[in-house]
Amino acid sequence: MEITQLKIGELMPRFPIIQGGMALRVSTAPLAAAVAEAGGIGIIAVTGMDQEEMRMEIREARKLTDGIIGVNIMFAVREFAQLVRAAIEEKIDVIFSGAGFSRDIFGWGKEAGIPVVSIVSSARLAKIAEKYGAAAIVAEGTEAGGHLGTDQPLFDIIPAIRSAVKIPLIAAGGIVDGTGIARAMKLGADGVQMATRFVLSRECSVADAFKQMYLKATADDVVVIPSPVGMPGRALKNNFVNNVINGLAEKARNCTACLKSCSGQYCIINALENSRLGKVQEGLVFAGKNVHMIKDILPVKDIFNRLLRELKEFKE
Ligand SMILES: Cc1cc2nc3c(=O)[nH]c(=O)nc-3n(C[C@H](O)[C@H](O)[C@H](O)COP(=O)(O)O)c2cc1C
Repeated sequence: MEITQLKIGELMPRFPIIQGGMALRVSTAPLAAAVAEAGGIGIIAVTGMDQEEMRMEIREARKLTDGIIGVNIMFAVREFAQLVRAAIEEKIDVIFSGAGFSRDIFGWGKEAGIPVVSIVSSARLAKIAEKYGAAAIVAEGTEAGGHLGTDQPLFDIIPAIRSAVKIPLIAAGGIVDGTGIARAMKLGADGVQMATRFVLSRECSVADAFKQMYLKATADDVVVIPSPVGMPGRALKNNFVNNVINGLAEKARNCTACLKSCSGQYCIINALENSRLGKVQEGLVFAGKNVHMIKDILPVKDIFNRLLRELKEFKE
């Protein structure tokens, strides 16, 4: 299948592949820069960082590549507006935002000439994002890792979202190979966002125990559990997840009220940070539904080469 050109505002990556933002320092400068260097768009996830840390990450990524670097800032984060403004000051190339909506962000992006991309899971929200001024949308299906906005499979939601908006559509959720990319594009996607595949890269800086959990995961190990953010989240089964399911998770302590709204059922920031640091049984390991299809840890460049080869060879 032919590789097509993705255009987000004036941004034209060599390949229509975006590395999804992964909170609590799973996608930081080294991974984002490697993806940008390979010709995709690399995303630093900002949730869990303060402004200073985000600025340092952006600057670090800029030292490593002159490719396209974006940030992912969850609307649910209390410091959302301050973080967006600081990212604009750092002249970030593109801003991705999900888990809620704000009209303001589109105006700020427009003023600065920085495209804003909304992550949505329905035609209704896609239409609102387009009306407010989104440069593109990520249509995220239920196979995605992390917080979920729908229980509908990606390939079921693409057609409705495609016919609802004219702006570029980036498909996300469960895509781990070139065949997945090709199928999404056949349905009308202009590009894809992939996250789980990039955790199993050399450049992703999570603890090895985190990557090993991914590598060992079977289809049955992937579950959906409630998150204190108020949305369900897709993660790997472990002691922590069992405790959440059985109502035994430790309540949030030393809370800094980092989220605009939080049930306090457990501290998601601590849970995600624990797993990134390697305490994988005491933390939340977010992962996409098709994690079991990935069998190796590769340099980002090799992941790209394989994806592009599979995409080129795809025949229906
Ligand atoms: C470990 C992990 C953390 C994530 N954190 C975020 C996040 O902070 N913000 C966000 O918008 N999406 C987040 N996501 C979703 C991804 O950006 C992406 O859209 C989704 O996982 C795509 O599905 P895939 O992982 O099957 O490729 C996360 C996903 C994973 C696996």
